[in-house]
Amino acid sequence: MPNVALVGTQWGDEGKGKIVDWLAERFDIVARYQGGNNAGHTVIYGDTKHVLHLVPSGILRPDKICVIGNGVVVDPEALFEEIDALEARGITTRDRLWVSERAHLILPYHHGIELGSEARRGDDRIGTTSRGIGPCYQDKMARSGIRAIDCADRGVLSRMIVANLNVVNDLLHHLYGRGPFDPEQMIETYVAYGQRLRPYLADTSLLLNRAMDAGRSVLFEGAQGTHLDIDHSTYPFVTSSSATAGGVCSGLGIGPSRVDGVIGVTKAYTTRVGAGPMPTELDDEVGEQLRRVGQEFGATTGRPRRCGWFDGVAARYAARVNGLAALAVTKLDVLDGIDPLRLCVGYEIDGVHVKEMPSTLPNGAIRPLYEDLPGWSRPIAEVRRWEDLPPEVHRYLERLAEISHCPVGMVSNGADREAIMLPPDGPLERLLP
Ligand code: IMP
Ligand code: MG
Repeated sequence: MPNVALVGTQWGDEGKGKIVDWLAERFDIVARYQGGNNAGHTVIYGDTKHVLHLVPSGILRPDKICVIGNGVVVDPEALFEEIDALEARGITTRDRLWVSERAHLILPYHHGIELGSEARRGDDRIGTTSRGIGPCYQDKMARSGIRAIDCADRGVLSRMIVANLNVVNDLLHHLYGRGPFDPEQMIETYVAYGQRLRPYLADTSLLLNRAMDAGRSVLFEGAQGTHLDIDHSTYPFVTSSSATAGGVCSGLGIGPSRVDGVIGVTKAYTTRVGAGPMPTELDDEVGEQLRRVGQEFGATTGRPRRCGWFDGVAARYAARVNGLAALAVTKLDVLDGIDPLRLCVGYEIDGVHVKEMPSTLPNGAIRPLYEDLPGWSRPIAEVRRWEDLPPEVHRYLERLAEISHCPVGMVSNGADREAIMLPPDGPLERLLP
């Protein structure tokens, strides 16, 4: 059975949650491989809106197994809040949700370090989600992180927390002028978390590989997006994990030969939260309309998202670094009534035309080069058959695919679970189980 990865091609918030929820029906297991509760995946069905941060969106389908891999950073408080909210709605997690023993944990001092460091950066701040993600990954790389498995043993955990606070309390005090953390209290809290985590913990690499050996199919769920990846994006305005397809293997403990294809989720336009370059950002009425109609406010922080035209340079780059087999284009209906529609086909930087994403983007000094296409005059959210989409929509999607060097495999044209269409004989027909 094929295993497929799903990644964001933009700056996150592409609508991955909805696509995963829809795709999950075809797979046995959904596995997250990076990021943490900085993510916010919104899935709407019936009159219920589910916002998930850590737990894979597959959890909303009762017969699916969900995995939080070793590459994810887990804030136990946030995880249990999410589990409680799911259980309160009758969605069970026991024996369905597995957390890697090797996943690193977010501790309260990670928040403290992030707040201090962002404040100190001043105008150069990254605009993080303040969830402690960056400092947790820093600790992981510095080899001072605390993993889920470490909470199982009070002695081990105590030594680690005391050793870390020895350094961290000094850092917080001298560098950021923030108060110290009490090791005793933190040890008690994390021992308790460890107890509650125990039934969820597993060697998830073993679990996944055994399942795949037995012919079960896995959907690898990415968070954030290509242009927030620690290596492949607008550094330093990025998140601290490998959000591109490459992260699947290290973040889950599986070999590359297990990944049969990668789907890139992209909005029909572009959004970004937080600081950093965004070449197609609009500071006008169209940008305002995209934000209002698309309800472009962060699912995690509530911040208004920056909005702009579809960026074909960014999409082509995402197709390359992820080896995309198909695009899933979301929120197409948000473009209803906008005429003309513009697609960015290149950038002009210092008078030079650029077609490939440069390794650094000057903030502000980029002129996007656009191609205009006609908009469509009737609303499309109710359309359920590919051939019933207006010809202008087909034209827009064709051009978007050409510019991105990747075929469109799926579109979402409304918030509803049913508002998803696949083109006949499209690339996903061959890829999906
Ligand atoms: P961090 O991941 O909290 O460290 O934030 C780093 C950057 O990534 C900031 O610009 C955030 O706004 C952005 N970011 C992190 N997670 C998401 C997400 O799930 N969607 C959109 N942007 C995100
Ligand atoms: Mg989001």
